[in-house]
Amino acid sequence: MTHLDKLNAAYREAPEIFQAGRYWKSYEEQITEQVKSADLSELRSGKYPIFSTFGFNDLVYNYHPRMPFYVKFMRQLVRRLFIDNRASLPYSLRLDDIREMAYNYCSIQGQVSDAVSVRSIGTSSFGKPQDLFVFEGQQYTMKFLSFYVRYCYAQNFMKLRGDEIVVELGSGSGYQIEILKKAYPKLTILCFDLPAQLFLCEQYLSNVFGPDTIVSSERNLAVTDLSQLEKGKIHLFGNWQFPLLQNFPFDIFWNAASFGEMEPNIVANYLNYVKGNCEWVYLMQARYGKESSQEAGVRKPIVFADYDQMLGSDYTLINEADAYDANRRVSQTGGYFQAVWQRSRR
Ligand SMILES: C[S@@+](CC[C@H](N)C(=O)[O-])C[C@H]1O[C@@H](n2cnc3c(N)ncnc32)[C@H](O)[C@@H]1O
Repeated sequence: MTHLDKLNAAYREAPEIFQAGRYWKSYEEQITEQVKSADLSELRSGKYPIFSTFGFNDLVYNYHPRMPFYVKFMRQLVRRLFIDNRASLPYSLRLDDIREMAYNYCSIQGQVSDAVSVRSIGTSSFGKPQDLFVFEGQQYTMKFLSFYVRYCYAQNFMKLRGDEIVVELGSGSGYQIEILKKAYPKLTILCFDLPAQLFLCEQYLSNVFGPDTIVSSERNLAVTDLSQLEKGKIHLFGNWQFPLLQNFPFDIFWNAASFGEMEPNIVANYLNYVKGNCEWVYLMQARYGKESSQEAGVRKPIVFADYDQMLGSDYTLINEADAYDANRRVSQTGGYFQAVWQRSRR
């Protein structure tokens, strides 16, 4: 059995509450099949649009995986003829101007929040990111810079020392882990996700940091408690292994653009393993809930007040704001929030 097959087999055996909700179930098979056949050295090139659904989205132009080919073709044509690096956008903006503004925004956010400077944290070029650009000798993509902005927001309040234990659920690409670990090499990170996403995240992070920094999800399948956790490493786990966190003290729980795509009972179940165990909770989610209809999307959208209520009196909301990427507000249509809660003092 391959590594991914083993993860899938363990996931299928897991209780119903750890199975993906309707939103992600619709992608499950497609992602697994694509992971099996993909050339992972081209993971970020845009060749596999389905990977953009969980963060491998280093594209200048984002084409939804379900967009009809003729719409995609027309958009590409318009882009080539009228937009790419011509000053044809308002205020005579070119692509390079947008990138430079985003980089400068990150620099300033870093200074304001007392974060490790963006100048010292570049992205890896593994997976041939389509949107790769260089500033001051460091490589970036817009997506990567946007994850840096999330770190800066959290850093305003958390003021990381560098030796914390961070738990991320729904890591997707693993870019947030890449940034945090590059900023603070001594962090211990536990990342949990659905099988195919986890597998890909592991491939990516192993390429970025080398296999010695990673404790593989394949090896972790046998883990029954966290007493042997290796400090300073990145540990990958299947989402169904979340109960390992019961009574496990850690510093930060992180979930971005992920809880909102689950059903409320699934989120409440995950939070029950987190509450009381950690000092900080960072969430970045759709403020008014993700799309929902009779046939598709989530069955019951979760809104900001639901998260606050689920965290209950154990946690105090420290700050809440609209979420920003490096170049714009996150999702002009839906509205995303980012927020930090701290364990309540009694
Ligand atoms: C839109 S992606 C976001 C990824 C990353 N956090 C980011 O901000 O780009 C949603 C993530 O949530 C994960 N996810 C969805 N449903 C889940 C579930 N029931 N349990 C655990 N993870 C889940 C997906 O696998 C995916 O990694």
